[in-house]
Amino acid sequence: MFALADHSAAAFQQCLSPSCEQRVGIDEFHLACPACGSLLDVDYDWDRVPVPGRLVELESRWSQRRDPLIASGVWRFHELLPFAPPASIVTIGEGQTQLREGGRVASYVGLDAGHLFLQHEGLNPSGSFKDNGMTAAATHANMVGATRAACASTGNTSASLAIYSSTTGVFECLVFVGSGKIAFGKLAQALDYRAHTLQIDGDFDDALRQVREVCRLEKIYLCNSINPFRLEGQKTIVYRILEGLDWEPPDWIVVPGGNLGNSSAFGKALAELKHLGLIDRLPRLAVINAAGASTLFDLYETEGVAWNGGLVEESAIETYYSEMESRGRTARTVASAIEINRPVNLLRCLRALETCDGVVRTVTDSEILEAKAQVGAGGFGCEPASAAAVAGARQLRNDGTIAAGDRVVCVLTGHQLKDPDTTVAYHSSSNDAVDELLAGHGIESISAANLPETVGNQLEEILKSVRRHPTG
Ligand code: F0G
Repeated sequence: MFALADHSAAAFQQCLSPSCEQRVGIDEFHLACPACGSLLDVDYDWDRVPVPGRLVELESRWSQRRDPLIASGVWRFHELLPFAPPASIVTIGEGQTQLREGGRVASYVGLDAGHLFLQHEGLNPSGSFKDNGMTAAATHANMVGATRAACASTGNTSASLAIYSSTTGVFECLVFVGSGKIAFGKLAQALDYRAHTLQIDGDFDDALRQVREVCRLEKIYLCNSINPFRLEGQKTIVYRILEGLDWEPPDWIVVPGGNLGNSSAFGKALAELKHLGLIDRLPRLAVINAAGASTLFDLYETEGVAWNGGLVEESAIETYYSEMESRGRTARTVASAIEINRPVNLLRCLRALETCDGVVRTVTDSEILEAKAQVGAGGFGCEPASAAAVAGARQLRNDGTIAAGDRVVCVLTGHQLKDPDTTVAYHSSSNDAVDELLAGHGIESISAANLPETVGNQLEEILKSVRRHPTG
């Protein structure tokens, strides 16, 4: 017996482009709008969904958490993503994550004590925020009877898809990763979960182009964030942030930007909550690019390309990409998760930036690694891409965009253990090979490093070192 009611009759897919307005049924799957080729949204006839009068009412549901759909931090908000009949939902207990006060990371960012919050999405079953979206995509794959699913990935999407495939058996899975472009912790997951893993000779942008074509030709269900159902699941990160703040919206939500699925999902979640009268004020959104993968920053902040009510200046985007191609410019950053030059959700993200009066910034690899070490020292730790959010918040605080008294949430998208090589390299920077690795990313200054100390295997020598650095 499921405690949740079925409201899927109110759901449909809708073309993003205001000049097209094509509608598609919820039981179909397309990689793009069948009429114009633009992106699709999942949308609802909200008058037919009994959404709670106040968000706080959803908290009482927690007493029914023996129901796996209520234990899931995604599906317990079912009325806010009501596309799935409860019997078709595929869940592995995702989304049981925490919003924690940022402690001493607040002073690193430059905020007043108690004003920084860290949303730890690395606590998901596969160790990243992707599980929020993958449960929704897996559910839709189940609804349309897909037996094979695929994705291209910088590592976390593939780990997530692979865990849903291996633990639920709903579909076989195929993952495409760029050669040498994936952190070992993530590759290890795809292999362990027995995903059919193709390492292609190229980067993420190449892998995504190829997997889209393979999925089209072989009729395989695509689980990248171009899939609008993924984004429905990722909306729940916003609901849990609000829940963690007693349903009082923060002033800022800061998130790293790669393929721009999260930022797009956040904007959609917030616009819907405002539309439904469930929040009265929207937080501002800050999307942080790595300096070596700065397409969104270049287009939005430098070229002034905006959503503009759906009338995006697409020729400026095409010119940008053709210049990128003619110069042979590829993305390059130590934060391999966001090493992406052609974000598929660009248009959706521009819409989110308009909804939330958003800003975009870039941070260097040195800033990312320093922020990561600070999160390790004062938070739960995170992977490099996630630390871009903290480095970005610090920059926005320094340039006065964020005030010291603002309430700021940084989303930590992936677990600290995803990319241990980079962490150890950062902290062991006296080693030549490691210096070379960091220099390859233009990193010279290591200010927060915690160098391991080498001691002999004699008690005397060990004691000398212990007494030189008294703890406590
Ligand atoms: N942080 C982490 C840890 C990620 O893995 C990703 C994306 C992002 C941030 C960027 O999020 O795409 O929503 O803007 N990783 C994808 C992957 C691309 O394949 O795992 P986004």
